[in-house]
Amino acid sequence: MDHKQTTISGEHLLYFQQLLKDRVSSGEAVTAHYASDHTEDFVFYPAVVVKPESTEEVSAIMRYCYEHNLIVTPSGARTGLSGGALANHGGVLLSLERMNRILEIDEHNHQVTTEPGVITEVLQQAVREKGLFYPPDPASKGSCFIGGNIAENSGGPKAVKYGVTKDWVLNLEIVLPNGEVMWTGANVIKNATGYNLTQLIIGSEGTLAVVTKIVLRLIPHPTQTLLMLVPFRQGTQACEAVSKIFMAGIIPSGLEYMDRDAILFTIPHVDDAPDILKEDHDAHLLIELDGFNPDVMMQDCEKIMELVEQFDIDEILFAESEAQKESLWKLRRKVGEAVKSHSIYKEEDTVVPRFHLPQLLAAVKRIGKAYGFQAVCYGHAGDGNLHVNILKGTLSDEAWQQELPKAIRELFTEVVALGGTISGEHGIGLVQRPFMDIAFSEIQLDLMRSIKQVFDPKGLLNPGKVFPDKTV
Ligand code: LAC
Ligand code: ZN
Repeated sequence: MDHKQTTISGEHLLYFQQLLKDRVSSGEAVTAHYASDHTEDFVFYPAVVVKPESTEEVSAIMRYCYEHNLIVTPSGARTGLSGGALANHGGVLLSLERMNRILEIDEHNHQVTTEPGVITEVLQQAVREKGLFYPPDPASKGSCFIGGNIAENSGGPKAVKYGVTKDWVLNLEIVLPNGEVMWTGANVIKNATGYNLTQLIIGSEGTLAVVTKIVLRLIPHPTQTLLMLVPFRQGTQACEAVSKIFMAGIIPSGLEYMDRDAILFTIPHVDDAPDILKEDHDAHLLIELDGFNPDVMMQDCEKIMELVEQFDIDEILFAESEAQKESLWKLRRKVGEAVKSHSIYKEEDTVVPRFHLPQLLAAVKRIGKAYGFQAVCYGHAGDGNLHVNILKGTLSDEAWQQELPKAIRELFTEVVALGGTISGEHGIGLVQRPFMDIAFSEIQLDLMRSIKQVFDPKGLLNPGKVFPDKTV
């Protein structure tokens, strides 16, 4: 680490100012906005924030930092939930916020080419105006950047039917740590040509290269949606119902789980929250179907009703208007933020094959009981991805610091034993590094470290992320 520069000299600053004019801030002028993301309560100030507007500027910044051994952290909207875009070593924060243009919507090929600083929902709306659909929809879609979605391989509710970010990326323009610019692939659906560098970059959390252009594939936008909310008297039964729906041959476009407490905590945070929680409700499934043919969708809906009625449920709510649908989704999207505003917390992003969801939920509750913490669960039940928010509540600081890591280790060990892994869509970043040994052997981790070394021989790009410290 010694040769790496975490502070910036006057000479470096001058270089950035000449290159970027007023799109540079340093020292006291770096605002709190650039020091944190949505992960716990971390605050790490970079020495300087630079805001390039073009690939050429990114390349010049990277080349300069490489020559002068300056640490660089690429950063999007910082809505991340694992600290991947935080400048925890100071140095240069390379904000992609000014690279926010949608470059081309190619209706002939159903593709869009975009810069990384475009807000995901803005991109979705732009292609929707042409009747096209970019499905991945993380809860933060109204503020996160598409570039950050690439970095973290973000998911969201629609992943259950349409897959996650990686399933939509055809090609990436990247800038390597030494400033070289290259494309990773080609703008084609099929590509059996050499190693898949595109997929290697996706989910690499800004540790291998800086993404400067993105080519995504699109599909025709579904014209209809149906949304139903099913209240269960036992959470484990809600989880059991999930795999049954798929086994009946139905693939919903959203299949979300919410613990009673998830809804309870969120209602006060949403204007005109729907009145959905009754005394005996333990958990809810929010189930969405989409498509083009209302008759087929109604048949699927009826099948789902028959299936869930085999469990101990209360009356099913069918959203009757677009406004009601939006109000239910708004409630669901707010859960993370609302639960977290309640207490000091840690958020885990467990994922298992969906049939094992009931076992995962039971493990969370069992471990919570053993260690004395409250865990609020919610998330993308359809793809086995359960977000577990652990609340500090009345736990002592000592228990929180000493005991909680043991509890998380126990939970992750269980998750891996069930065939799952320790992050479904939030990434490893800063917070899950200590647990990577549960998901990977030293051989696997060393292979990844070797790849990192090839891309970034000086270890200047987003150091201290993803990899656990070496134990030997
Ligand atoms: C959600 C985010 C936290 O599903 O992933 O709400
Ligand atoms: Zn999620």
